[in-house]
Amino acid sequence: MSHDPALLQRLAASTGTPFWLYDAAVIRQRIAAIKTITSGEGVQARFAMKACPATKVLQEMAAAGIWIDAVSGNEILRARHAGHAAGQEPPVICYTSDVFRDNALEVVLQHDILPNIGSPGMIRDLAAAGYQGKISLRVNPGFGHGHVNSCDTGGPSSKHGIWYTDVPAAQAAATAAGMQVVMLHAHIGSGPQFDELLSNLNRLVNEFADLAPSLPHLEAVSLGGGIPHNYRDPSATLPLEKLGALFTAARETLSQAAGRPLRLEIEPGRYYVAPAGTLVTRVTDVKQTQTNEKGAGATFAMVDAGFVDLVRPAMYGSWHGIEIVGRPADAPTEPIVVAGPLCESGDVFTRDDAELIQPRDLPRPVPGDLLTLRDTGAYGYAMSSNYNSVGRAPQIWLEPDGTLLQISRRETLQDILKAETNELLVDV
Ligand SMILES: Cc1ncc(COP(=O)(O)O)c(C=O)c1O
Repeated sequence: MSHDPALLQRLAASTGTPFWLYDAAVIRQRIAAIKTITSGEGVQARFAMKACPATKVLQEMAAAGIWIDAVSGNEILRARHAGHAAGQEPPVICYTSDVFRDNALEVVLQHDILPNIGSPGMIRDLAAAGYQGKISLRVNPGFGHGHVNSCDTGGPSSKHGIWYTDVPAAQAAATAAGMQVVMLHAHIGSGPQFDELLSNLNRLVNEFADLAPSLPHLEAVSLGGGIPHNYRDPSATLPLEKLGALFTAARETLSQAAGRPLRLEIEPGRYYVAPAGTLVTRVTDVKQTQTNEKGAGATFAMVDAGFVDLVRPAMYGSWHGIEIVGRPADAPTEPIVVAGPLCESGDVFTRDDAELIQPRDLPRPVPGDLLTLRDTGAYGYAMSSNYNSVGRAPQIWLEPDGTLLQISRRETLQDILKAETNELLVDV
């Protein structure tokens, strides 16, 4: 969303650029929308915390009674740190992954977290760790897709989940190891088309209804996340009530198929947070290349944020709204490429997944202008990195009454060097 230019100028002067700004009111509106469509009996929403794992955001979710989908041991610990309950009765935190890495298995066991396994060998891993209890199976239902091809969430080329025809074998392996399959789960992605999401969800419900009768311990079914956000038209509203009706009907269908009442879960990520986040950066220069035999010349607005801050455009050509702060909406525009400070030619925010650059019609900025990258609350800071050792940018939280909180500071060289050691490895 657009912010008051004077506020952005004051923040830039006090914290430096780039920085992230989260609007609490927007997150709360989105939480309220999800609460409304999951208000039916036996329907429960989670937050896929990978989208924005800041403690402040996790606390908002806890306060609203939204459960957590975590993907690593440390995500579980961050959710615990923010006040989300341990244990499986009910499973407030669920661990969904295709791999146990680092501390994940240990944390799952220590905090009694429901493991939602996406690979059959994870039953072996759990058994080897002495686990005998409830598990959930993440299923690859054979269909579904994300917003781009590289976010393939279901089908033969997707790495996620247990292929649906292998569910009986996974269940047999679980039973032999003293585990009970209590949940079936699939995440079929946030493709851009809402109607396609609805039809994919219905297809998934039918697939799960076929599997349910052979799972005697089944307690719940999760339809995953994937509620899209319209990045190109953030003010567009989705007919969310259709999802609400689908969830209620799905719970009925699945409960009938299982022969007992089941819980129906969803776990959106981006929908809660995407429009709440803005990456604010400063234009440091405007320069030009000239047309020659290799191609057309372009105007480059150089900014101090790069793909270390927001990787989505570089990683899969994602489109984010861009504004030159303080310019009127009707200001004349020209094609501008917005590029960052990193030593990587792909450090360009105006690109798509096929072309390196995709100039955007923008008012011509001047050095010193602030530029905002909009709708960056999901998979923004969460995916940021320390490439080129620049340090992650600070995150600022804006309350509706204007109160501002810095919820993470700018990383320093000391932060970057913190994990470096010079230890002799003996007896290896
Ligand atoms: C298992 C799982 N659940 C939920 C989500 C959230 O997806 P979205 O942010 O598109 O709602 C993801 C995204 O990667 C996921 O992998």
